[in-house]
Amino acid sequence: MSTPQNAAPLTQDELKTLVGQAALQYVLPGEVVGVGTGSTVNKFIDALATMKDQIKGAVSSSVASTERLQALGIQVFEAAEVESLSVYIDGADEIDHQGHMVKGGGAALTREKIVAAQSKMFVCIADESKLVDALGAFPLPVEVIPMATARVMRQFVAMGGSAKVRLKDGQPLVTDNGQHIVDVTGLKISDPLKFESDVNQWPGVVTVGVFAHQKAQVCLLGTSTGVKTLKF
Ligand code: 5RP
Repeated sequence: MSTPQNAAPLTQDELKTLVGQAALQYVLPGEVVGVGTGSTVNKFIDALATMKDQIKGAVSSSVASTERLQALGIQVFEAAEVESLSVYIDGADEIDHQGHMVKGGGAALTREKIVAAQSKMFVCIADESKLVDALGAFPLPVEVIPMATARVMRQFVAMGGSAKVRLKDGQPLVTDNGQHIVDVTGLKISDPLKFESDVNQWPGVVTVGVFAHQKAQVCLLGTSTGVKTLKF
């Protein structure tokens, strides 16, 4: 898919629409599809509605995506009802050239990782601003049990980072799982697999937003010249 040479550059929103539509090629008729969360995934959900009669339904990674899927007439199954999914389609806050990602800008990282883990393939849909050489510029989301928040934040500070509790309406944001989000800046994540394994061991950390163990196999990247397919 490409855009004509003299056309006005596509907006970020248009790029999201393009990759959301392009992701339909990975949806297998008759199957249940894993669905992520965020503004790019919302475009995918809208596109998925055009083939809703050809699929069995979806497993969703957030209350927000569940509501959007259901409003469009797509059946949503609990993750536990489906043993394995052939594909999981989700956005990212950052993706590197190996398919490792930072996710959780929409606070849905834990359920996203759960659905990704039960899927055979992760297809990331993103506009080109998300492609990076090294993870770490986007504030890293970490879902934390509130009792552990202060200590987890001190651990990130000891690593050279700086950490803040994510707020909503002046109060700590509460995730779909009843927990809080800490956003960490100032870290350079040079070994995403090790970083993810290490931080996930910290008591009170529910999920760290580095997706290296559940990395993408494919990224559909929205660029000024159309959708590029990156394979990892
Ligand atoms: C939500 C996520 C999203 O995939 C990520 O934040 C990207 O969102 P968007 O498509 O709105 O840019 O991880 O928790």
